[in-house]
Amino acid sequence: MERTLILLKPDAVQRGLVGQTLARFEQKGLKIVALKLMKISPELAAKHYEQHRERKFYPGLVKFMTSSPVVALALEGIDAIKICRNLMGATFGADAAAGTIRGDFGVSRSFNLVHGSDSPEAAVRELALFFPEGIVGYDYAAYGWIYDPVEELKK
Ligand code: RTP
Ligand code: MG
Repeated sequence: MERTLILLKPDAVQRGLVGQTLARFEQKGLKIVALKLMKISPELAAKHYEQHRERKFYPGLVKFMTSSPVVALALEGIDAIKICRNLMGATFGADAAAGTIRGDFGVSRSFNLVHGSDSPEAAVRELALFFPEGIVGYDYAAYGWIYDPVEELKK
């Protein structure tokens, strides 16, 4: 089982796309283990995107991410990180494949609707930043109908 941090970015919230975006992850079979609407502080944005600090787009990225609330989610599932990145699509909306969140809902480079952790290490780091209170553990009734028995045995 893997966990990943997903952020529904300010444009998703402001455009009324929270429900539809969240539904993509839910429908795929990912389990929601934390969820909140929050405003990102400049300090939190700086920590979250520290790998991009020297990039030209960094000031605009921090400004955008702190401009309006986001919905932060922790999702859990086998291969959750890869699956979420596939559901999100390529970074820039104009390049993202149809059928993905970014491909279906946007065209922009910076207003790209959603963030997802890009590695297990990033996921651990980002989940600690956004959910210092931890996640919510519970039995997910759908598991038996989502994962095939071979995958279940590998857990
Ligand atoms: P994210 O971290 O937000 O999930 O997006 P990502 O992995 O697909 O892309 P990443 O390379 O981590 O970039 C972080 C965010 O910075 C903005 N960006 N703008 N050249 C540009 O104008 C540029 N490159 C990146 C995007 O909003 C991207 O989501
Ligand atoms: Mg990234």
